[in-house]
Amino acid sequence: MKYKILETLIKSNDFLTDERISRELGISTNCVCENIEKLKLDGNEIEYDEKKGYRILNTSDMLCFPYVFPKTEFVGKKVFYFDKIDSTNKVAKETKCCDGDLFISDMQTNGRGRMGKNWLSPSGCGIWMSIVLYPRIDMEKIMQVSLVAGISVCESLNNMYGIDCKIKWPNDIVCEGKKICGILVETKTEEKNVLKVIVGIGVNVNNETFPDELSDLAVSLKQITGKKQKRVDIVNYILRCFEKNYKLLFCENKSELIIDKYKKKCINIGKKVVSFGKNGKICGTAVDISSAGELIILEDNGKKTTVNSGEVSVRGIYGYI
Ligand code: BTN
Repeated sequence: MKYKILETLIKSNDFLTDERISRELGISTNCVCENIEKLKLDGNEIEYDEKKGYRILNTSDMLCFPYVFPKTEFVGKKVFYFDKIDSTNKVAKETKCCDGDLFISDMQTNGRGRMGKNWLSPSGCGIWMSIVLYPRIDMEKIMQVSLVAGISVCESLNNMYGIDCKIKWPNDIVCEGKKICGILVETKTEEKNVLKVIVGIGVNVNNETFPDELSDLAVSLKQITGKKQKRVDIVNYILRCFEKNYKLLFCENKSELIIDKYKKKCINIGKKVVSFGKNGKICGTAVDISSAGELIILEDNGKKTTVNSGEVSVRGIYGYI
């Protein structure tokens, strides 16, 4: 019932008396008062005037339904919310669910990063979420899903806050030379077939500081914009953007458009890079992105090499000079 009251207040965008709410929803005025208290406990700011009644000033930043409500076709339609979980990627991988379902937690105790690293995920500070997809594609196309995620986060932050985020291959989102978001795509496969894809997205939103070992590498949206930001608005925006780009790729077969969008945002292209991957250390200049999303490096010895995994340092980013 509290969410019906919330919806009524949001729709009216003005004061409503408890009698009016009780009439509209067919409940007692006592029930209205009780639920208004519950909504306040959830973090909604609700003003009260003896004559005019209640008015919503600001909705909660809780990361569950109905606050997470992206108005999409399938991405984020169903939300599994946790106050605390080890890793949203882990639980998303293990849980039986449907295409587009979202797993999101206020904090993670064992957030997973790329290359076996940990991902710092404190409470109230960030967006720690995983989108589950069942795309019926071959393993070779997985990298494209990961590019779609990078483009979508980058577009969302830039459009919402007018900032200048870029993508460091494959999908670190970087702002002012530091990492604001990391993306970890994991899969469940059977032989060569991909059964389930888990797109894990971690955005540093309201972190005030980072531990010493990360302070030169990581940055939060609050540090960039100078004020606290509402996580749930960013979640809804990213989910909408992700669905739009994902449909372009897999429903409208516009993979060239996706690669093109990616290249425009990719900070590596034209830069001196050092890659540490399966093929050992490669030094050269990043010159292009392949149709599968791999990074093409023109080595200092004149040889062209395609890199599809591992860590790539870019001159000038994260202190690599
Ligand atoms: C990276 O190392 O850049 C990737 C970080 C990915 C972190 C996110 S937070 C939500 C999801 N759950 C996890 O355990 N990891 C990803």
